[in-house]
Amino acid sequence: MLKSRHLLGLEGMEGKEIQLYLDTARSFREILDRPIKRVPTLQGKTVLNLFYEPSTRTRISFELAEKRLSSDTINFSASTSSVKKGESLIDTVRNIEAMRIDMVVVRHSSPGAAHLLTQVMEANIVNAGDGGHEHPTQALLDMFTIREKLGSLKGKTIGLIGDISHSRVALSNIYGLIASGARVIVCGPATLIPRYIDRLGVEVYHNVDEVIPQVDVLNILRLQLERQRSKLFPSLREYHNYYGITRERLSRASKPILIMHPGPMNRGIEISSNVADSEHSVILEQVTNGVALRMAVLYLLAGGKSEIH
Ligand code: CP
Repeated sequence: MLKSRHLLGLEGMEGKEIQLYLDTARSFREILDRPIKRVPTLQGKTVLNLFYEPSTRTRISFELAEKRLSSDTINFSASTSSVKKGESLIDTVRNIEAMRIDMVVVRHSSPGAAHLLTQVMEANIVNAGDGGHEHPTQALLDMFTIREKLGSLKGKTIGLIGDISHSRVALSNIYGLIASGARVIVCGPATLIPRYIDRLGVEVYHNVDEVIPQVDVLNILRLQLERQRSKLFPSLREYHNYYGITRERLSRASKPILIMHPGPMNRGIEISSNVADSEHSVILEQVTNGVALRMAVLYLLAGGKSEIH
């Protein structure tokens, strides 16, 4: 049973609720392998995809998930809307809701934007990334992928590498992984790691070569240059030399490590191409699993609890 009719973040979410999302995604993952990948589960529901920031994976993944569930889908893009004429977020959503929509998937550059919508709308709200705050469906699909590959999250060691400070993916992963019994290591330059992050229950490292021998999974994060207001490391070449995940670095590990990246990737900076495309990389499986996970989120928030056919 879900505690909320919205999915705003994984902060405070209990392990059993996370497990419900992941177990439900497992059923939907099987539907994606059928010749006809559509179920009537959300027939009659209308879902608005409200994107104020660019997106490739999340936006297409939600749209596909909605179509696979037979809901009606409306795509809103701020750049081609009356936002350009000065209309506020609240006026925009109130006007769209007046046309009778049931659920909103929102991406916005402001932390708290998804929460704000819960105050002014009746629809179920799903946070598809709010500034540097949370990106709960990305973390859930990351956890789903780890569970599919390694059997469980409990007792596994996950290394989150790179730009932790600006990463909503990192924060949602930390909340979700800790609640699921995993050990979480964060690693990056001190300038890209928030000062008090150890209070969230993670271990902090600055030398990636000390992390590699300890982990089952490396989730490599994009350097978010667009969110960095000042120069936080000397050069991209230096960043790659110290923190870039390369085949040479991984060759020193005693066991294979699952390689993950939420995308979009900066090849040759945080990850080398031969690692991104290696046999241990599950980066494209994350994307496939994302559709199933988002189907599960929409289904559960719409009140679904019975078996899926
Ligand atoms: N991982 C992720 O959020 O990618 P997009 O920005 O392309 O949606």
